[in-house]
Amino acid sequence: MRKFEFYNPTKLIFGQGTLEALKLEVPKFGKNVLLMYGGGSIKRSGLYDKVIAQLNAIGAVVTELAGVEPNPRLSTVHTGVALCHEHNIDLILAVGGGSVLDCAKAVAVGAKYEGDMWDFVERKAAPKGALPLGTVLTMAATGSEMNNGSVITNEVTQEKMGWGSVHAFPAFSILDPENTFSLPRDQTVYGMVDIMSHVLEHYFHTDGNTTVQDGFCETLLRTVIDTAPKLIEDLNNYELRETIMYCGTMALNGMVSMGFAGDWATHNIEHAVSAVYDIPHGGGLAILFPQWMKYNLNTNPSRFRQLAVNVFGVDPSGKTDEVIGLEGIEALRSFWDSIGAPKVLGDYDIDDSEIGNMADKAVRFGPFGNFRKLEREDVVEIYKLAL
Ligand code: NZQ
Ligand code: ZN
Repeated sequence: MRKFEFYNPTKLIFGQGTLEALKLEVPKFGKNVLLMYGGGSIKRSGLYDKVIAQLNAIGAVVTELAGVEPNPRLSTVHTGVALCHEHNIDLILAVGGGSVLDCAKAVAVGAKYEGDMWDFVERKAAPKGALPLGTVLTMAATGSEMNNGSVITNEVTQEKMGWGSVHAFPAFSILDPENTFSLPRDQTVYGMVDIMSHVLEHYFHTDGNTTVQDGFCETLLRTVIDTAPKLIEDLNNYELRETIMYCGTMALNGMVSMGFAGDWATHNIEHAVSAVYDIPHGGGLAILFPQWMKYNLNTNPSRFRQLAVNVFGVDPSGKTDEVIGLEGIEALRSFWDSIGAPKVLGDYDIDDSEIGNMADKAVRFGPFGNFRKLEREDVVEIYKLAL
């Protein structure tokens, strides 16, 4: 393992009926609340009314920022920052999926910064503070509810990039699996692909002596593989939603990834696709991850072998690590096919016309990936494999 420090200050409030906790948590920060949400799913599901009832009960003064986009945009962040100043906001409350939460994180740091929050994304400056943030999660996917990362799209420059800061952890996050019942089947699948992809990003590392961490990762993967087919046929099943929600948080809150550096190239490659084509993040990952794996199989076949045997139950007898590893990659592909995840870029009508542009965006900060450093030409090859 490499040296590490672990820090995660987010108070996680998990389970049925936990929305009640809003009444206790919100007043700790003040009474002026900026309520951020997406395109209306929380109004249709009734969650909006429940949140407002809780906030009214404690006399909160609520300002709203509705319409946060999937793949949230910088212009919406700017709107949020202006609202924070105008209404002297004490707490931002994000109710939604990863996009709403990520946008709220950007607003939280932007409100405490004189310049443009995009400076943080471009690494020109680092946040020195943030408004407190609380979240009510409605989609299991990103882990944003308990991490300090955020991904923002600059629609003017067509860039989508991640940033992070110690100031971007939510102060509290409320996770009631019932709030994910209304998530449609396709988004549920994207979320589960994203969760598995986070674990896979961890899994492909080059540090030694990570038996415990590998086991955590393998358990998460096996659990999603076991749960997903049942959940897509039974979207209102509390226990299945609960399992996936817990997996989503654990996959990217730092708990299973201490002491090593995961790869994270595929996320970078995907973000460049959704920057240009505005596709769902999980859908892009379902297309790209198996291709990244095939492209890198020979980098360290024993790692692929371990995944194939321990997660997909591939029988290793009499086979080379490469053959076993490839069977594991094919098992992942078949599994994602079986739950209806997209397979090729063509599923989103994406052809080869923007491959060069996307590759340029992916290498914006230079070669990347900790399992194997990818250059621009590697990225081009992976996109071509995914057509
Ligand atoms: O906007 P609304 O109306 O709320 O609808 C959303 C949206 O259309 C809908 N939805 C969410 N919860 C729902 C629901 N519909 C019905 N019932 C519910 N309970 O689902 C759609 C997708 O929502 P979104 O928030 O965009 O999805 P997700 O949670 O997958 O977030 C994706 C964003 O997070 C970034 C991605 O790049 C993407 O921009 N990521 C953030 C990370 C982080 N902060 O750590 C890491 C990830 O790897 C990822 O990159
Ligand atoms: Zn992701």
